[in-house]
Amino acid sequence: MGFILGIESSCDETAAALVSDTREIRAQRIASQDDAHRPYGGVVPEIAARAHAERITPLVQATLADAGMTLDDVDAIAATAGPGLIGGVMVGLVTAKALALASGKPLIAINHLEGHALSPRLADATLEFPYLLLLASGGHCQLLLVEGVGRYRRLATTIDDALGEAFDKTAKIIGLGYPGGPAVERMAAQGNAKAVPLPRPLLGSAEPHFSFAGLKSAVLRAKQAGIHADADIAAAFQQAAVDCVIDRTRRALGQASGATALVVAGGVAANKAIRAALEALASAHGLRFVAPPIALCTDNAAMIAWAGQERFGTGQSDPLDFAARPRWPLDPAAEPVRGAGVKA
Ligand code: KG4
Ligand code: ZN
Repeated sequence: MGFILGIESSCDETAAALVSDTREIRAQRIASQDDAHRPYGGVVPEIAARAHAERITPLVQATLADAGMTLDDVDAIAATAGPGLIGGVMVGLVTAKALALASGKPLIAINHLEGHALSPRLADATLEFPYLLLLASGGHCQLLLVEGVGRYRRLATTIDDALGEAFDKTAKIIGLGYPGGPAVERMAAQGNAKAVPLPRPLLGSAEPHFSFAGLKSAVLRAKQAGIHADADIAAAFQQAAVDCVIDRTRRALGQASGATALVVAGGVAANKAIRAALEALASAHGLRFVAPPIALCTDNAAMIAWAGQERFGTGQSDPLDFAARPRWPLDPAAEPVRGAGVKA
């Protein structure tokens, strides 16, 4: 059994994990920076980079100690090399390079999105390629046909905001703290989704993509109207988001023949309403539904170590001069889409 040390630092979680090629998560630690960013209502890149730099070395040491292992016991060192907030990415990647250099073990530079995309296979050994993946996080909202390790076909992306971003902005508008997604979900459970009419951008559209900017603006107008309970706004927003996600995913299923399962990953995959709606959609199409446990949906290093295992297993590693990438699309061949705030 071979272990890989994984390191994640692309946003506001500093994380390290040791994962075996048999899917055992032997140890993992996550240091959240929520308290440092909360006063600003969102992640401040400079604060994030400094916090990663302070924490990462002791965190790696503690993770190895938890497992009773040293670098001698690992096969390779995997770290997120992008996309993400570049200061934080550089801290994790340079740390991994230093550990690789000192130990003589290979470096594996991981695309953070590939970490999310393969995380369902860490959770479920029976999940085979190809599968249709909804990857929804704070920076991305994409439907991908995952054909194999390193083989991703993007069927849809957002033309403006990411889905997690829409949750976070809704949280801000109705005065919930940071991070917003879990807070909106909790408040939505107390509200009536039908009490506030909200739009469903691109619902039924012939184009495949997502759009959430109009929904966010409508949430702002609903709040400013001053006549709705915050819980009703949260519930209505979440329902509108679910309806958009299901409509777009149903459309993509039509282009994903051969898919063995419908899969969701990324931070927003922690949302129970979205999971339940996708599960129902999968079963209506006679497909399996796979969602990693919630702790593997939000940013973590186990998924980075696992993506390292998947790539290492096919003989891949990366040179020590691998550069950190602020942008790094999973499907470089995908057509650019219209829209101002397009995220790859
Ligand atoms: O994957 P992730 O941890 O970090 C990125 O790579 O972006 O995703 C974070 C995003 C945030 O926007 C957060 O609000 C959202 O995932 N999120 C949720 C939930 N938990 C996290 N959104 C909706 N419901 C949740 N329970
Ligand atoms: Zn992420």
